[in-house]
Amino acid sequence: VSLVRPAAPSDGNKLSESLDLASEFVTTSPNSSSDIMSSSVRNLLTGANLGVAGDGRGVELQLSSTRTISYRILHPLGHVFDPEDLSLARLVAGRPVIFAVDRHVYAGYGETIEPYAATHLLSLGVVLVDGDEKRKSWSQVEMLCTAAANASLPRDGVIVAVGGGVTLDLAGMAAAMFRRGVDFVRIPTTLIGIVDVAVGIKQGINFNGRKSLLGSFYPSIGAINDVTFLRTLPLEELTFGISEIIKMAMVSDRALFGLLESRGRELLLRESAIDWQFVRDITLWSERLMMLELQLDLYESSRARLVDFGHTFSPSLEASTAYDVPHGKAVALDMLLSTTLAVGRGLCTPDVLERLVGLYRSIGLPLFDAALRSELLMESLSAARQHRGGDLNLVLPTQVGEATFAQDVHLAEIESALAHMSRAVARHHAVGI
Ligand SMILES: NC(=O)c1ccc[n+]([C@@H]2O[C@H](COP(=O)([O-])OP(=O)(O)OC[C@H]3O[C@@H](n4cnc5c(N)ncnc54)[C@H](O)[C@@H]3O)[C@@H](O)[C@H]2O)c1
Repeated sequence: VSLVRPAAPSDGNKLSESLDLASEFVTTSPNSSSDIMSSSVRNLLTGANLGVAGDGRGVELQLSSTRTISYRILHPLGHVFDPEDLSLARLVAGRPVIFAVDRHVYAGYGETIEPYAATHLLSLGVVLVDGDEKRKSWSQVEMLCTAAANASLPRDGVIVAVGGGVTLDLAGMAAAMFRRGVDFVRIPTTLIGIVDVAVGIKQGINFNGRKSLLGSFYPSIGAINDVTFLRTLPLEELTFGISEIIKMAMVSDRALFGLLESRGRELLLRESAIDWQFVRDITLWSERLMMLELQLDLYESSRARLVDFGHTFSPSLEASTAYDVPHGKAVALDMLLSTTLAVGRGLCTPDVLERLVGLYRSIGLPLFDAALRSELLMESLSAARQHRGGDLNLVLPTQVGEATFAQDVHLAEIESALAHMSRAVARHHAVGI
């Protein structure tokens, strides 16, 4: 009996090769094959859209399939719930809709959402979501699924999520599971939501004391990035949100970093002082950079991703403080620590760190936090390795606009970097800056 190799995993249609293997299996194993696959079954399989393979001790049927992903991020000139704006109505195309709206956002925008829904959509109702990171958990996903079930949202129905990253992630999880997946639309109302969450295809919830331990890769059918929501976003949220733009600039675009240095503070202006054109330009720039990086590996199969800059130590920082340290702040601290480590290793010159510190100071991002403890940071390296298939892939800048990956970090380096960071804060306080 000659051994027949199983068909290699394929990314295309390997049907004919697999069927050849099957016939070889059957014809070269006269004693055993008749028990496993009779000629009538073999005839049935021949011509079916399935690969067949075996190793002499069994038969394997194989189906390969690919799915094309395509989604759009729309940028309306005005407000998405303006009666004249048809972006959302066109995306859902007459299908039944259930809204998942952040409670605070509903307080400010419910009066525009409701009439828009009544005029342009077949709305089954609005579910209010608690957009607090401490409640980004299974219970709220279940609550959303229950609401969708009670409203009889059909398989072709659409969940429209309106809120920050917490709401978008919770609604994305519900959409991925309800009826094994219904379409969903993201309408981000925070800076992080606009430049980061809306651009990718994943969502996560906190579980068992760990940040984003449960999650899914499940693309929305589209996002509507309406920057006018930022008008009501609390200043602190806006400040922390800039972290995700700095992330993209630091790892992939020195010109964007330069723009943040010269005009980043303008993102914090309020009311009539807001330059909407600038806000649109800088968010679009950042979104495009993010999309370019994501499209290289949308499902994170390589697990070495520049967009993970600031996302190695930060999940543990968030979780260990019971989410008192918000996401954007944790990312900012992680980026600063990583850049300090890079300087310590001689991977980049000290002026890269000085520019980052200068940018943080101009925007009001933190330079240190008591939650930064060396033991916790070492633990976060193990957690990151588990998450990234065994490799650390810590993103360290080599210059402004470029970065590399590190696979190991020692306790002594972390302690030295922390000492450097706290001395820098003390120095700034001493000179009264
Ligand atoms: N899925 C992804 O790819 C991805 C990417 C980045 C971040 N995230 C997640 O996003 C979360 C952080 O999200 P976030 O920073 O957008 O904040 P958030 O959702 O935590 O919201 C922050 C606060 O702002 C309020 N708020 C939101 N929009 C408002 C508005 N326009 N006006 C007034 N108040 C408003 C919310 O009620 C909340 O209190 C984290 O859980 C993070 O893990 C996910």
